[in-house]
Parts: sequence; C-alpha cells; structure tokens
Amino acid sequence: MNKSPVTAEQMAEQFFQLYGEAPESVWVAPGRVNLIGDHTDYQGGYALPIALPYATWVAARRREDSMVHVATDYRQEHWSLTAQRRQDMIRGPRPLAGLAAFIAAVWEILAVSRGADLWLATEIPVASGLSSSAALSLGLLAAARDWQGAPASSSDLIHQAMQVENDYLGVDSGILDPMAIVLAQQDYALWIDAGKEDARPVAFDYAHDGQCLWVIDTHSPRTLASSGYQERVHETAEACRRLEVCCLSQASLEEVEKIPDPVLRSRSRHVVTENGRVLETVEAAAQKHWDRVKQLFWESHQSLRDDYGVSTPVLDATVARLKELGVGARLTGAGFGGSVIALGAWGDGAVIERELRALYSEQGWDPPGIMPVDHPARGLHRAF
Ligand code: GLA
Repeated sequence: MNKSPVTAEQMAEQFFQLYGEAPESVWVAPGRVNLIGDHTDYQGGYALPIALPYATWVAARRREDSMVHVATDYRQEHWSLTAQRRQDMIRGPRPLAGLAAFIAAVWEILAVSRGADLWLATEIPVASGLSSSAALSLGLLAAARDWQGAPASSSDLIHQAMQVENDYLGVDSGILDPMAIVLAQQDYALWIDAGKEDARPVAFDYAHDGQCLWVIDTHSPRTLASSGYQERVHETAEACRRLEVCCLSQASLEEVEKIPDPVLRSRSRHVVTENGRVLETVEAAAQKHWDRVKQLFWESHQSLRDDYGVSTPVLDATVARLKELGVGARLTGAGFGGSVIALGAWGDGAVIERELRALYSEQGWDPPGIMPVDHPARGLHRAF
C-alpha cells in the first residue's frame, strides 16, 4: 500500500474543494480477506472473513437535477453521467463494465431519479482478490440508500450488492464478500454460514498473542479467475444433482467419496473438508492455538490446490516459502492469482519480506505487495 490512509475529514475537505459544498455523507466500505473457508459459500458452507483496514471511501451529495458528477483519486479528469446515458447502459448489452456501470446499476436497483456529486477514494488494491468491487458497490449503495428515507437493512444491502455483481457486471460471485463487508466487526472475525445467510462475530485475537496477519498481494494476473470460477460453480452444482442434495454442505465426506467421477469427487471433497476446517479454526482461535490455525491454513491451501484446482505456481511457491518459515499461509478468495493470507509471529515481518522478495526476484516475478493487518477492521459504516 503506497498511498497514505484516507480520513473522513480529508474526504469532506476534498469534496468541498471539488463541488463547493460539504458532502451529505462519507461512507467507508472496507476490503475483505477470507481467513479460511473458500469456495464454500455458493454451496451453503462456512467462511471466516475479516474486514481489512483498507477501504473504498464514498463522499456524496444529492443534486436537484439528474446528473451524476464523479471524481476519483485514481483518475485525473472528472466526468459526468447523464440520466439518458445511465438508461442506455441499463437497456444495452450486458455485462456492463467500469465505474459508470456500478453507478448505473446502483441507480437502477434503488430507482434513484436524482443525480449526485460523488468523490471516491480507494485504498484497496484492485484485482487482488480483496473485494474492491463489492466494496465499491456497497459504498455507492449505502450513500444512495441515505436518500430513500428508510434506513437500509443489512440483508437488503448484501443482496443488492450481489445483484450489482451478478446481474449487471456479469460476475458470478457468492454472498461471502458482501456479507463480510457489511457485517464485519472490528477486532473480530466473522463466522459465516452461507446456507442460512447467518453470521456471527467470533474471536480471532492474534494480536494479543504476539501474532500478526499479512495479506500478500502476489501481483500475478488473474486471467482464469472468471471462467475458472464459473466452471467450479457448475461442477459443484452437478455434484449436487448426482448426490441429490440441495448443496454440498449437506453431504457427508463418506457420501462424496462415493461419487464415481474423479473431478466431481475431489471438488466435493474440498467443500466438505473446508467446512470442517472452518469449524476447527473457529475453535482453535477461541483457544488461541495458533499453531493449529497455521496447520489448518496449510491444509486448506493443499485442498484448494489439489482437490479444487484453483491455485497457481505463484500462489503455491509463496505458500511453500512461508511454510518453510513456519508461517501459516493459504491462498485466499477465488484463487487463480490474487492474494495469500499469512499468520506468523510479529517479529516475522522482516524475514517474510526478505524471503518473498528474494523468491519473486529469483523467479523473475514482480515484487509482491505485503500488507500487515494488525487487527480486523470495522465493516461498512458512515464516517460523516
Ligand atoms: C470470490 C467470490 C466469493 C467466494 C470466493 C471464494 O471472492 O466472490 O463469493 O466464492 O471467491 O471463497
């Protein structure tokens, strides 16, 4: 993370400089990282994410006319989106792409007729598997919901964010990301039961035990991310049909081991065993058995690599080097590139940095981005 952290005061001040008035609201939508429990949400399973101290910030003010004016901290020029252009996008071919697509989708879903002045800043690295996209949707949805009178329920926001991704942007994503961003609480991990759409904060108090988490952005391309993700969604749906269960989280390990097709069998094995690892992680973290948590991270990575087939050589080499150092590590999120999560002792930071930089330079890869997470951050909230 090269940019300095954003603050609410700064957002309000910059908004004033741009538009000559104070914003009505400043919303903070954090990125998320999943500690364990990947590729389980769309099969009714468990996940254990935290919110990151890196967020997308949305400062907004409603306008009298229907124009949406947009300025961002990553593009020099300001631009505008007319009501006509928004309608044309919504009626035109899908999927939609770019920031304008998020705005058009949110305005459509919430049936917002008036325009707005928007100032957006983000600290979340894009295309790193840290949910920059869901954070942007949620920041915009939250700001636009303020104009609707009734306060937004968490469940509405979560489903509307999924709608932006699934229906408008053509991204096949599950409920994990929006649930994590909306419901995460500071200093806690969020234990999600995707099947019941239920979540509760659970202890993951590594910091008090001299432990630290790092998110390692491998900066490797995620070329197969979309097609590979879709393929896994279809494979697991097919396994459900064959087992005659509504979702794999309802099947036992014994049942999935009897699936004759070897690919469907290993995909299903991952889902069932990963659910078990989430439960064990919750238990081990409650008892502060960090060595056990590290072991579960390695096992999860192995399962995502061998049974689920979503790892890459860069992710594998990163996790292997961290394991040699005694640091718990696994790929996190959808895989096919993106980020690795690591759990080690506070003092390991310098060694991790040195070793990974050496590895990446030996292999001719771009250096990784290493972000310490000293404690889980707060979920979606209004800062102004
Ligand atoms: C992506 C999706 C989530 C989830 C993860 C894998 O982040 O958006 O819904 O399926 O992959 O755990």
